[in-house]
Amino acid sequence: MDRFAGLILANRAFLDHASPPGAPEAATPATEGGLLAAVRPIIATWDGDHGTTWIGAGCGPFDREFVDGRGFEIIPTAHGPLRHRRLFFGDETWHGHYRETANGFLWPAMHIIELPLPDITAYFPRPRTPSASAWAAYEQVNDAFAAAADATAAGEPVWIHDYQLALVPALLRDRGASMPIGFFLHTPFPSMPILERVLDREGLARFERIVTGILGASLAGFQSEADASRFIDAAERLGATRAGNRLAFRGRETCVGAYPVGIDADELLDVARAAGPITLFDPPATPVPLVVGLERADYTKGIPERLAAVRRAYDAGLAFSYAGVAAPTREGVAAYERLASDVENAAAEAARAARAHGRVFTHVHRNLPWVEVVGLQRDADVIFTSSLADGMNLVPLQSAIAQSLRPVGERAVIVTGKGAGVASAFAGFEQDGLVTVDPLDPAAMDATLRAAVAGELPQVSDRLIAAVRSRDARAWATRFLTDLEEIRC
Ligand code: F6P
Repeated sequence: MDRFAGLILANRAFLDHASPPGAPEAATPATEGGLLAAVRPIIATWDGDHGTTWIGAGCGPFDREFVDGRGFEIIPTAHGPLRHRRLFFGDETWHGHYRETANGFLWPAMHIIELPLPDITAYFPRPRTPSASAWAAYEQVNDAFAAAADATAAGEPVWIHDYQLALVPALLRDRGASMPIGFFLHTPFPSMPILERVLDREGLARFERIVTGILGASLAGFQSEADASRFIDAAERLGATRAGNRLAFRGRETCVGAYPVGIDADELLDVARAAGPITLFDPPATPVPLVVGLERADYTKGIPERLAAVRRAYDAGLAFSYAGVAAPTREGVAAYERLASDVENAAAEAARAARAHGRVFTHVHRNLPWVEVVGLQRDADVIFTSSLADGMNLVPLQSAIAQSLRPVGERAVIVTGKGAGVASAFAGFEQDGLVTVDPLDPAAMDATLRAAVAGELPQVSDRLIAAVRSRDARAWATRFLTDLEEIRC
């Protein structure tokens, strides 16, 4: 399957209109999140009757000026026109749905895969059980998406994305919809035994609704086998019965599988080719290895742990430059403000240590143009990511492709947190430049950084690059959509 002629449902619209009609659209933010990057390559252009229809929320300041009475618009994209429908919600509803439930409760809960992270770090928030009104808002938004899909689809498959819309599969079935329904979770799926220790009784009941919501899908896809089996466990606890990877629950059947996402490698390579030299900092007079950290400024990414390792490495006399870019995200949500201040403190300490040893250190909390981000991925000697838990983490995949422009023997090593999906999707590539580390183990972080800077770790190989290419976003979507069409697992 090259392109998807069906409905895509995602909390985020394909783009938010930041400018009025007629004015040039603002550039795509540098770190838009994995969902959009993964789904974009399989969008089928709208020919007037067929193609992809994307349904997303209207969050841009000028969105209303672009749509017809039912929220439809045709968005011109680099690949052709995209049929798009926006759903609009009042501030209070959106606050309850997005801030309180999706971000305050579900996002941290989804990342509790191996450890009760809120008990372990100072900054990882305990998932906050949404108030009755916030949960009602979440249900209302999910129901609006289900109603829109029901009214828009003419039998074609519906592909629902991520935890913000986890109730939609079952809500669509409740409306009598009979088309194939796919659900894909871009985040990890948590461990129920650990979550039980972290959530209160009401939080647990709400989370169980998430599981039953997903069980409305014909095919539920996860980033890894471990995520898929944790979901199966959660479903069985609620009374679903299992035969292989097929779950039966309340008269319906759901296939469950692992579908690790990929990137659009060709597009990334074009950007890497176009990127100019790094301008984020002045390079030191004597060249030393460049260590780069890139991500959305999220508490799942292990940024304070990494900055602490960088500080210790400077104090131990290691010679390297560090450039960190944390793109602002979910601003106004309390946990992100707490993280921002912890990161600021850790960055200030690392900067002091770097100055004391005459090294270049920079950490910025802002959106860099995408071409500059990719330029850093291309020119780094060490890509240092350190997620505590992550659905996939696309940065290592993007970096492998950007590094392919450098000759063998002059490439970087890519470090990834062991709880990131990329670590399991590319297990067996440790000798090919993709090295895993436990971000919560300071000694392991120190040893990995030391070995990486000393050039003692394997560099990105052609084998890794070929694997990232062959498991790209198109291959991911094709596998998922073919299985959805044939309902197989
Ligand atoms: O990939 C996870 C995800 O939550 C997506 O669903 C989302 O589009 C992206 O990260 C960015 O998050 P947000 O939409 O909250 O800015």
